[in-house]
Amino acid sequence: MKEKIEKILEEVKSFHADSKEALEQFRIQYLSKKGTITELFTEFKQVAPEMRKEMGMRLNELKNTIQDIIDEQYKQFETKSEGKTDIDLSLPVEAMKGARHPLSIVREEINDIFRRLGFVVAEGPEVEDDFHVFAALNFPPDHPARDMQDTFFISKSPNENKPTDVLLRTHTSSVQVRAMENNKMPIRIIAPGRVFRNEAISARAHCIFHQIEGLYIDKNVSFADLKQVLYHFVQEYFGEGTKVRFRPSYFPFTETSAEMDISCNICGGEGCNICKHTGWVEIMGCGICDPNILKACNIDPEQYTGFAFGMGIERIAMLKYQINDLRLFFENDLRFLKQFEKA
Ligand code: DAH
Repeated sequence: MKEKIEKILEEVKSFHADSKEALEQFRIQYLSKKGTITELFTEFKQVAPEMRKEMGMRLNELKNTIQDIIDEQYKQFETKSEGKTDIDLSLPVEAMKGARHPLSIVREEINDIFRRLGFVVAEGPEVEDDFHVFAALNFPPDHPARDMQDTFFISKSPNENKPTDVLLRTHTSSVQVRAMENNKMPIRIIAPGRVFRNEAISARAHCIFHQIEGLYIDKNVSFADLKQVLYHFVQEYFGEGTKVRFRPSYFPFTETSAEMDISCNICGGEGCNICKHTGWVEIMGCGICDPNILKACNIDPEQYTGFAFGMGIERIAMLKYQINDLRLFFENDLRFLKQFEKA
């Protein structure tokens, strides 16, 4: 056995692997379960007791030497392959898999229609101050919309008559104010974005939802322009022949104010659950900008007039795709989302 060990020791010491694979082969030959060392340990059981100690030591030495050789030679392959990978980084990217969220689809479709009419997409912060969400939009300090029940406040100011509160915007109308502050005339923007209201979550309401705001200010802008633009939008989005009607309404920031309904695209005006058997569904609020909001943004209301409108993206998507529960938009259930894969 002694000679055998010596012979193997010589053999392994002169071994030089020229590849990782060769080294692995070497390891299998000597150290695997069926390898030479295991065989020798089996033989070792027959060694005479007086020789055992010496043979045991030699055998262990041989095993350790082989392990050291492997460890040592492995390093050279590691350093050689550094910086190299099997991945070809120059290959073109695979087309994106997955689906767009229905709210993104609808938002982009609406944006596109207004872009073609010359509107520019504008953005504003979700964390806003009282001035941009309420004060500049002609909400008096005691207006109920400012109430804790509706608004998520981040910090409240001590003086109730001069609110400087920081809050989550409750509507995208705040972007109107920012657009008027930062742009030269004429202004023609649409502002899609996320809004927040302290409401109980149900099939019809959510504390986070999305709106698109529109604003057009120039010389001689009238209610006729407002009607024409919104009529065009409805024909493009809901199909030609869709009827519109305007009902008088009230918003602090518009005077005249209206709500716009379209003929129910589900029953075609015959009457169904969605339109509560009226044949009409409300899709947005709108109106002529109150002179006070132009003044708040240093625009002369004697020279300029404008119109504004605001709609909920979820509501438009629900009508378009006949979705009856608002919560579906936020649950990220793949069975729901997959239906929009190719839309
Ligand atoms: N900001 C209103 C809301 O949150 C929607 C709205 C109504 C926006 C009338 C407008 C408008 O610009 O003119 O319900």
